[in-house]
Amino acid sequence: MPAKNMDEIVALCKRRGFIFQSSEIYGGLQGTYDFGPLGVELKNNLKNAWWEAMVYENDNIEGLDSSILTNPLVLKYSGHEETFSDPMVDCKSCNLRFREDQVPDHCKKEDLTEPRQFNLMFKTSVGPLEDGSNYAYLRPETAQQIFTNFKNVLDSTSKPIPFGIAQIGKAFRNEITPRNFIFRVREFEQMELEYFVMPGEDEDAHESWVQKRLDWWSNQGVPIKSIELYDVPTDELAHYSKKTVDLMYKFPHGLEELEGIANRTDFDLGSHSKKQDELKISSNVKKNKHSNSKMAVKNDSGDWIVPYVIEPSAGVERGFLAILNEAYTNEELEGGKNRIVLRLKPHLSPVKAAVIPLKKNNKDIVNTAKEIKDDLQKIGLGRIILENTGNIGKSYRKHDEIGTPLCITVDFDTLNDNSVTLRDRDSMNQTRLQVKELAMYIKDLIKK
Ligand code: GAP
Repeated sequence: MPAKNMDEIVALCKRRGFIFQSSEIYGGLQGTYDFGPLGVELKNNLKNAWWEAMVYENDNIEGLDSSILTNPLVLKYSGHEETFSDPMVDCKSCNLRFREDQVPDHCKKEDLTEPRQFNLMFKTSVGPLEDGSNYAYLRPETAQQIFTNFKNVLDSTSKPIPFGIAQIGKAFRNEITPRNFIFRVREFEQMELEYFVMPGEDEDAHESWVQKRLDWWSNQGVPIKSIELYDVPTDELAHYSKKTVDLMYKFPHGLEELEGIANRTDFDLGSHSKKQDELKISSNVKKNKHSNSKMAVKNDSGDWIVPYVIEPSAGVERGFLAILNEAYTNEELEGGKNRIVLRLKPHLSPVKAAVIPLKKNNKDIVNTAKEIKDDLQKIGLGRIILENTGNIGKSYRKHDEIGTPLCITVDFDTLNDNSVTLRDRDSMNQTRLQVKELAMYIKDLIKK
């Protein structure tokens, strides 16, 4: 059985050290979470899988790691200062504030105030003067600094169009009502690709990225059958988008957006360009008085063209939650017992293998287990741990719950014949293998 509800996942995350409430000892800070020892491993593995699929597997995609603090002019010309807001209402009965589309059932319509627009960007002062004149925003999406670096990346890598820039990093939104564990938070990470194409090639590229992203999620353990495509209606589109397809996943709290794939046209590069009159721009962009860059490329006829951009944008936390939800299994065993097992794809598992000495206090067994752990760790396949609790059953249960695909038990026979017992997480089958074959075995197991 998969997880029955969010509470089971939240409990597992806390119990085993995946996710903790941030600033917990002071009562927390709403909309923020900390990733614990296992959470940081799973999160890094997820981000690495995305980076490999985007940057390493496509010679026309390059990476970027830009600053979080953003010059307000970037967010003025991107349209965020004017439009990046949600309608907010107050309930006069319970005195709480909600996003207009998220008012709980117990509030009566007649108790609600008229909606007011609330800008979601966090503003902070820069430098020692706090008089409001020197401020910056914490970026609300990683995308904008990809656009502002368009020329830098193009000039330094000499890429022809189509080419893409990929970035993973924090984004901040002052959500009116953060909720549903790590689903809607105020500080989160995005994995964003901006894929630049010539106008006219945008619609095909958009379709092709929707398919590629579905395939990628499936490789992470979120099968295509559990994702619904939502063609965002025109009146709900973001200010920059001509078309957006959302990948909707059935989270424990309901069907919601996991990733959005937008056709942002030439809106952003056009908005950040100087001398817009010299360019053919299809979007209705704001005249830019401040930029010193022309975000355009020359086509075969020598005309300056502003490329269109296709943007697959996924949230790391939402991916993390979907993956946990898919992997969480409460399994009935023979004899009426049950076990909780995280059937994670092995490349995402926080721990790839646990080396377990059969006897906690037998020096020869423990030293051999430690040598095996050290040798496997050096190969660079991810985290291998030595689990010396002296209780094999308990160790298996723990590693089932945290999704370790393989347990390796070192016993008295190991000392004589260099073989170990392998115990498979999913089938619980046990087999013997020579120590020298372990590295190859694990390598095969964690192949994507
Ligand atoms: N650059 C495009 C963009 O930011 P978005 O649909 O607003 O588009 C992209 O965000 C993704 O970022 C979403 O699909 C979601 O996975 C994630 N995301 C957005 N707001 C979030 C929040 N408050 N908490 C967690 N993840 C969020």
